[in-house]
Amino acid sequence: MSQKPIVIVGRKLPEAVEARLARDYRAQLNDEDRLYATDELIARLEGADALLACHTERMDAATIERLPKSVRAIANFSVGVDHVDLTAAKRRGIVVTNTPDVLSDATAEIALLLMLGAARRAGEGERLVRAGAWKSWSPAFMLGTQVTGKRLGLIGMGRVGRTFAHMVRGLGMQLHYHNRRRLPAEQAANGIYHETIEDLLPHCDFLSLHCPATPETNDLLNAQRIALLPDGAIVVNTARGAIVDEDALIAALRTGKLAAAGLDVFKNEPDIRPEFRGLDNVFMLPHLGSATHETRDAMGFRALDNLDAVFAGREPGDRVA
Ligand code: DGY
Repeated sequence: MSQKPIVIVGRKLPEAVEARLARDYRAQLNDEDRLYATDELIARLEGADALLACHTERMDAATIERLPKSVRAIANFSVGVDHVDLTAAKRRGIVVTNTPDVLSDATAEIALLLMLGAARRAGEGERLVRAGAWKSWSPAFMLGTQVTGKRLGLIGMGRVGRTFAHMVRGLGMQLHYHNRRRLPAEQAANGIYHETIEDLLPHCDFLSLHCPATPETNDLLNAQRIALLPDGAIVVNTARGAIVDEDALIAALRTGKLAAAGLDVFKNEPDIRPEFRGLDNVFMLPHLGSATHETRDAMGFRALDNLDAVFAGREPGDRVA
C-alpha cells in the first residue's frame, strides 16, 4: 500500500478536523498554533504533498515560487483566498481550494451583530458598564440609531451577502444592493438593484460590504464614495480590510460624516491602525466572522474533502486554481 500523503497544517485546527487529518494523512499539526515565518513554513514543506493553510499564511508569488516541488496542493481553511497568489500557483501547477458556503451563516451573524452594535453603541455601553462608569439612566443617555425602517445597502451579493440579506428581513429594513449582476428577486431577498456602487450609496443609511478582496476591490470604499453616503450613515465590514480606504474611513468617523462603523476586518491584522482604538463610534471585533465551533468544524471538513479529492485523482469541489 502506498504511503499516505504528507500534509503540513498551518495553524491549530478543531479537534475533530485534526483527528480526521491524523487518520487519513501523515499530518504535521501545529499544536502550539504558532504563526510560522515564511522560511520555516517552506522548510517544513520540504517533501510534503500539501499545505492546509489559513488566511494568516501569506502565499504570495515569491513564496509560491519557493515551495518545494513535492507540494501539489494548498487547501485553504477559508473562503477568502486573497492571501494566495492564484496566478503563481497555477503557474506552478499547484491546486488551490477554499471553503465556500459553510461559513455564510456565521459571517452573516457577525454582520448583524456589527450593524446592531454600531447602531446602538454596544461597545461604548459595554465599556461604560464594565468600567463602573454607568451613573444613571436618563432619556438623553447614549442614544443610538434605530435600524427599523432604515435602508440597508449591500455591496456584493455572493453567499454571505445573500445570507445577510435574508437574515435582516425580519428587521423591517429596506434592502438595496449592488452586485456585478442583478439577481432573481427571491435570491436578493427582494432588494432593489443598483447597477453601480455610485448609484447605490445615496440609498444606504447602513452599508455592509460583502465582496472579495481583489486588485479591483482594493480601497473600494474611498473618500469619494463615502461622500455619496447620507450623512450619519453606518458602515459594516465583515469581508476584508483591503476593500476600505482606512484613512478615509477614520476621517469620516471623526467628522461625523459616518455615525459609526462595525468592523470585523482590518487592513493590517492584528496590528490595526491605532486611530480605531481611539474612536468610540467604532464597534470592532478581531476577525470573528467564521468563529463558531460548528463553522470551524465544517470549514476543516470541507478543506479535507478537497484534499481527499486531490489525492484520489478527482477534481476538488472548491478548486480556485
Ligand atoms: C475566510 O474564510 O475568508 C475568513 O475570513 C477566515 O479566514
